[in-house]
Amino acid sequence: FGPKDLENQKLVITAGPTIEPLDPVRYMTNFSSGKMGYALAEEAKKRGGDVVLITGPTNLKPPTDIKVVNINTTREMLNAVEKEFNDCQILIKAAAPLDYRPNVVSNSKIKKKNDILEMKFIKNPDISRHFGKIKKSQIMVGFAAETDNIIESANEKIKRKNFDFIVANDVSKEGAGFKTDTNIVTIIDKNGNIENYPLMQKKKLANIILDKIVKLKTKS
Ligand code: PMT
Repeated sequence: FGPKDLENQKLVITAGPTIEPLDPVRYMTNFSSGKMGYALAEEAKKRGGDVVLITGPTNLKPPTDIKVVNINTTREMLNAVEKEFNDCQILIKAAAPLDYRPNVVSNSKIKKKNDILEMKFIKNPDISRHFGKIKKSQIMVGFAAETDNIIESANEKIKRKNFDFIVANDVSKEGAGFKTDTNIVTIIDKNGNIENYPLMQKKKLANIILDKIVKLKTKS
């Protein structure tokens, strides 16, 4: 019985990795487990939110009583967000979409030949940048998976993607980022305010992020 401070709010939350096929039997992906995004969806639901979870492939059980949209590729994630964006109040981009996909997906299994296999990749759409450009009153929260120059890179992403704030995780630290139940983050807002948080459960961090969103909403 926590606060029901997200009642009448539609939240679109993206989670997990995307995958991009290389040929009929192989694909590329990354280490995202979906835990951060699913924790946000679960906690937002508990707080009364109308949650749509758009998720890449994970091994997690989604929270009950929310709309779940399963996607594979980054372009599918973009299309799924497009369908939910107009009437949502909050978009949280906790997913780790692949920035590139193979330029050509082979119709037949790629055969083993030379020692070195060369492939070309083409840029995927930047989902957040797209919605950052067209957003009206929506609050948009991004994540940044960084290994170095964390503040600088996160600041650049806030501007480029028009986030209200960004949650930067140093994925090179133990207990932070991909796969773990915990995270260590720095939250930076669009005015340049910086807050460092110690190691904590993703569930607790989800509530800190939701608190910040509620605060922003009561200010506007
Ligand atoms: O899933 P877990 O195992 O729990 O791990 C959590 C996490 C590390 C995946 C999560 O905390 C996280 O950092 N998610 C963002 C990872 C990422 O894609 O970071 P980025 O710096 O490449 O992207 C910055 C932002 O743009 C992110 O909000 C991302 O969702 C978004 N993005 C990225 C690429 C793309 N083509 N479109 C996007 O919208």
